[in-house]
Amino acid sequence: MKELKIFGIVVVFTLILYWGVEPFAHSQMHKHVEGANLVYDGAADIKECAEDKKETKKQFWADVQKIAALKGDPVAGEATYAMCAGCHMEGAVNMGGVIPPSLEHAGAIYDKNFLIAVIKDPAMATNVDHKYADTMTHPMGSVKTMVSEPQDIANVVAYLQAKKAGEVTPKEAYVEACSRCHANRYGKLTQLGDIPKTKSNIATGKDIDAMKYQQKVAEEEASLANYLGKLPPDLSIIIRARSEHFLHTFIEDPQSQLAGTAMPRTGVNKEGMEKVFAYLEETGDPSKPAREELGWKVILFFIIFTGLAFLWKKSMWKGHH
Ligand code: HEC
Ligand code: HEC
Repeated sequence: MKELKIFGIVVVFTLILYWGVEPFAHSQMHKHVEGANLVYDGAADIKECAEDKKETKKQFWADVQKIAALKGDPVAGEATYAMCAGCHMEGAVNMGGVIPPSLEHAGAIYDKNFLIAVIKDPAMATNVDHKYADTMTHPMGSVKTMVSEPQDIANVVAYLQAKKAGEVTPKEAYVEACSRCHANRYGKLTQLGDIPKTKSNIATGKDIDAMKYQQKVAEEEASLANYLGKLPPDLSIIIRARSEHFLHTFIEDPQSQLAGTAMPRTGVNKEGMEKVFAYLEETGDPSKPAREELGWKVILFFIIFTGLAFLWKKSMWKGHH
């Protein structure tokens, strides 16, 4: 009986810690951020921006809604897309600090309203317009003058959405949405793409091609750090360092978690978010499926073991009372 009482007390205190103290401490130390369920309507931007910017932002997102209601013509959009492809092409080089990403699966991984917004005004869409207050211009800024008619914007977006180039793999989604800024060591990816296989020179034992490649990566990273104010972190194991909720809300709207951050909103939709996550799990936590498979077996083992231990104790103490 005494054992049961002690056990009861331990259980009660553990539960108080688990459901009472820990969540309370957590809520005091981290502000809770509600996600917007991947709806890109500018509501949070308008709420959180400076007073004098509210009207501009309201107008901007209202215009986005109007364009979203237009019926886009993908055929006409393909012709206009040629202007985008001038920057967004295979083997694109650094432009204003960053390499324009491939848009191969843009229609599949980005939200429609976000795509409209990013063509209308990239800095505003990605919620980093606070960085471009003075003379500095966004590296994609010139798109505003190249494609500005509402119907043209609707057409390009219709083209991107129609062109869905097959099923997107987790890696493709990550590369298109994140890896122009974030390296992923465990995924063998740098901001320049897949790390090439190279060989050491037989006589010197030194891998000159690998060194040349490292230099190119270092130069790209220096340029990014200059553009963004700091080098974006390697995301190999971010899935273990941060909670899923933090990552979701951060990716959806970086400013919501880290006011003033230079990371732009990426505008991923549900599919884009899931694929990016799948890739982060693949590289950062490759043993997760095996662990989940093992979990219930371990618990079952402990239940049986506890039962046996109890029976054993009973039989050992039988004649001793
Ligand atoms: C002058 C070159 C240029 C042109 C023209 C251009 N872009 Fe971009 N685009 C960029 C660069 C550079 C970036 C990366 C910016 C960054 O990461 O800060 C980018 C980023 C993007 C992104 C990713 C946004 C995000 O953060 O997720 C999308 C989507 C995009 N562009 C679509 C388009 C479309 C559609 C067009 C044509 C209507 C277009 N771009 C025209 C240079 C350009
Ligand atoms: C245009 C560059 C750029 C792109 C694209 C980008 N990021 Fe970032 N990211 C940054 C920068 C810069 C930081 C550092 C933010 C800071 O500390 O202010 C950052 C920080 C982060 C962090 C760290 C947050 C923390 O404090 O732990 C995560 C997680 C992250 N990014 C995820 C992503 C994911 C996932 C994608 C693709 C869906 C992505 N980023 C795309 C620039 C970028």
